[in-house]
This record gives sequence, C-alpha cells and structure tokens, in this order.
Amino acid sequence: MQFPVVSGDLTTQDVDAVVVSLFTGIEKPEGAAGAVDAAIGNTISALIEAGEITGRSGELTVIHTLGKAFSGGNAYPGFAPKRVVVAGLGKADKFDLDTLRTVSATLARRLRGLGVKHAAIIVDGIHGADGLEHGDTAEAIVEGAILGLYKFDKYRSKKQSDDDDGEDDKELESLAIVEFDAARVAEIEAGVDRAIVFAEAAGFARDLVNEPPNVMTPTKLAEEAERVAGAADGLSVTILERADAETMGMGAFLGVAQGSHEPLKIIRIDYKGDPDDAGNNLWLIGKGITFDSGGLSLKSTSGMETMKSDMAGGASVIAAIQAIAAIGPKINITALCLATENMPGGGAQRVSDVVTAMSGKTIEVMNTDAEGRLTLADALAYAREHGASRMVDVATLTGGIVAALGRGNSGAFSNDDDLADALIAAGARRGEPIWRLPLDDVSKRQNRSKIADIKNTGGRPAQATTGAHFIGEFAGDTPWVHLDIAATAMTDSPSGWKTAGATGVPARTLIQLAIDLAK
Ligand code: BES
Ligand code: MN
Ligand code: ZN
Repeated sequence: MQFPVVSGDLTTQDVDAVVVSLFTGIEKPEGAAGAVDAAIGNTISALIEAGEITGRSGELTVIHTLGKAFSGGNAYPGFAPKRVVVAGLGKADKFDLDTLRTVSATLARRLRGLGVKHAAIIVDGIHGADGLEHGDTAEAIVEGAILGLYKFDKYRSKKQSDDDDGEDDKELESLAIVEFDAARVAEIEAGVDRAIVFAEAAGFARDLVNEPPNVMTPTKLAEEAERVAGAADGLSVTILERADAETMGMGAFLGVAQGSHEPLKIIRIDYKGDPDDAGNNLWLIGKGITFDSGGLSLKSTSGMETMKSDMAGGASVIAAIQAIAAIGPKINITALCLATENMPGGGAQRVSDVVTAMSGKTIEVMNTDAEGRLTLADALAYAREHGASRMVDVATLTGGIVAALGRGNSGAFSNDDDLADALIAAGARRGEPIWRLPLDDVSKRQNRSKIADIKNTGGRPAQATTGAHFIGEFAGDTPWVHLDIAATAMTDSPSGWKTAGATGVPARTLIQLAIDLAK
C-alpha cells in the first residue's frame, strides 16, 4: 500500500474517497473540511445539524457525491471524489496520537470494505488540536492504517471474497496525505517513512505469531532470524544448538526442551550501532516457546488453544531489531530468544525434578507449565555473561497478569527505575500501554524451595509477580525490566489498530525504546 504525500487542495484530488475529520461539538467545518462541505452542498453541516454526524471517535459517515452534488453555482466544479467520508475524532481535549491511530485503522478497514482503492485524507485540523507535530499525526495515520488492514489469510484456499460472509479481499491501494502548505511536506513524509518501519515490524511480529505451531517451530524461527539478519545491513546472527546449551550448562532451558522432538535453538541477533562503546548496549530477550502444552503439568484443551503465541516475546524482539537496524540509532542492541516447544514427551522433565541453571542456581521444577521463567533464567544468565548492561525480557509469562491488569496494559516488573520509566514512556508513545507492578518481599518468599535454591512456582497469590521474582533472581544487579505480555499479545476480535490474532505488541515499543536510549 502507498502513502503519497501531496501538497495541494483536497477538493481536486482524483480519488475514490476523500476523508475529512471532525472533533465533537464542531457545528460548521472549517478549512479544508469546510471547502469539502461547500463542494457537496453543505451536506456535512446539514448532517451535523440533523445530529447524524457528532464527531465522536470512531464515527464514520459515508456521503456519496454522485458526481453532481454542487451548490452555490458549482463552487468546486472540479470536485472529483465519488465519496466523502467524515471521520469523528472525539473530544478535542481527550485527543492523542493513539486515538488517531485507532480512528485511522477503523477508517482504513471501512474504506477497504467499500471497495475504495484510492483515498485521500487531510491532516489539517487534526494536529491543530493538541499542538501535535504534523509529522507525528501523519505517522499515526499511516501506522493505524497499516496495522488495521493487516490480514493473515495465507492458509485459506478461498480468499474471503469467494465466501458469502460479506467480507472480501478488496485492497485499499493508496491513502494520500494531503497538506495545503508545501513547506510541511518533508516533515510529513518523514513521519510516513517512520510509520512504515514501525508498522511493518509489528506486522512481521504478527506473522511469526499467527503461523501455526507445526510451521513456526524453533528451527523455522531460527531460519526467520537468519533471513532477517541476512537481508539487513548491520545485523549479524548466531544460532546455537542443543550441544552448545549443554556446554554452557543451560540446565533450566534444557529441562524444558527435553520433552519435545523439535530441536531447540538459541537465536541471537546483534546490531552494532555504537561499535566504539560496547557498554552502550541493551539486550532484548524474548520468550520463545513455539508451543506450550504445559508439559507433564498439561494444560486443559481450551488452555492450549492460543499457546502457539507463547513465542510472541521472541517474535517481537526479532521484528524490533530488524526495524532498529533500518533506523540506525547509536546504541548496541542484541535480540536473544531461547526457542523450544514445551511438550510432555516420554523424555519430558518430571514434576519435582531439580535442574541446575547456567548461573549455578538449582531449581525445583514444581510445575512444568511454568516453563517460560526456566528458559528466561538461562537467557538472562547468557546475556549477563556476554556483557549486557541493560536487559528487557518480553514474555507471555502468566495468566495471572490477565487477572491483575486485564487486556489494556502489559505488566512490567523491574529492578531499575530509569529503565522501567524509559520502557513505559516508549509504550505510551506507541499506544502500547504498560503498567508497573511491585516486586515486594512478601511474594518473593513464595518461591522458596524446601530442597533447592528456588522453585519455579509460588502458589496462587500474585502469580505474575512470583514469575517476575523468579526471573529477577537471574537478572542479579544488571538493570532489568520483565514485561509480561500474556494479556496483550493476542486478541479475539479486531478493535482499532489491533486485528484478530496476534497484536504485534510490543515490537513497536521496543523500537521506540532503542531510539530513546540511543546516544
Ligand atoms: N504461556 C503460559 C502463560 C499464558 C497464559 C500466556 C495465557 C498467554 C495466555 C505460561 O507458560 C504458563 O503456563 N503460566 C502458568 C504459570 C503457573 C503454572 C505458575 C500460568 O499462568 O498459569
Ligand atoms: Mn506454560
Ligand atoms: Zn508458556
């Protein structure tokens, strides 16, 4: 899909639909929206007056011009578009970039559904509202459109237009961003270019997660990492195998992998944005369980249904580092993903096995379904041994985070306020909210084992927190944030810029974090 930036008059654009936007409470559209209103016989004002257009966020009103709807002596005889779409932006004082991203996604899906191939949107009047930069508003529009139009239909032999469910495989081919002031075009184009990098990274992360688990095995994930690194300048990839894990003493990771026939993979991608300062680094560590059956602590039938998404953290770090290399910030980034299935095969680890992690700590495995923290224990030890100065782990770790925060926020736990604040700010900037929860001493005690250094479950209370405490044992004093995305990595039904299935969260946040931390 194309996003041309056009300097000129909205009313003369040769497109199937023009889009104007409106805040609530506006009675008479002004500026470009006013010109469009005049061109179509003040229909917009009339619909506002009649109460059919209110400007509430998400409201979309489609007006057909029928090629002849002029008033006042053909003020705009050249008015070309067949449709005018009025998009509500909600209350001006509540408006932010994520509202715009969300409106844009809904709008793009509606345009596609209408069979519109070429549309134009005017950004004048949007950024005015909140003092938002023109480049940022254009960026939010394009991010929203790409994310909202995302489809994963490669396994349907009939594309959706062949069904009779009303959905179709029509494509919106272009959305032009029209700006009257030619001096602003460069700024808007830069915003569009940024948006494409961010949104495509999220789309790539979604693809990796949406693939079925018989396809997206650890081997396939490693191949994807090799493809990504091979295609980008400035990325290098290392894939390590079971023998390497054994040499390094990754007993916690190996224990999880031993119930599966699929070979485990250690996937590492390096971006050297600051080669002269090795300490200026950030490790992005993603949980990479390509299918979580629970192991011998087997999940229920329904509990397993979304467990192909248990590598969403790994997907997000691989997708993010690709985009980071394209942007080129002055910081060294390493993406790390210890990938395996968690299966109950004959060689599977037992409940109450004791394993020795790479750090030397012994772990009593009281629940084989608490496998993410076991793989992350060795991932963090590896990162620290290889000079990590900051670590963010991203994991679909616990059902408990759904109970604690619902589906609106990812949960963060940290031993470092600066890094936690930076991650939360990056998430806010990208519309991927993050809420920090405490690592208190009371819940920490729940991980005490009677016979080993620690056990991998902490009982019923504060499940997300005890998972975080466990991982924290292996972070030591290295600045670290654990981000639990079990509630945010997947969604049942489309909403705003999220499409059904994988959301791509938090790939865009991680890219933003790398940019924000760069020197
Ligand atoms: N992958 C799951 C967590 C999960 C649950 C992700 C729902 C997405 C949606 C994780 O490995 C797991 O099974 N966690 C257990 C931990 C428990 C056994 C301590 C959980 O949350 O129930
Ligand atoms: Mn599990
Ligand atoms: Zn899991």
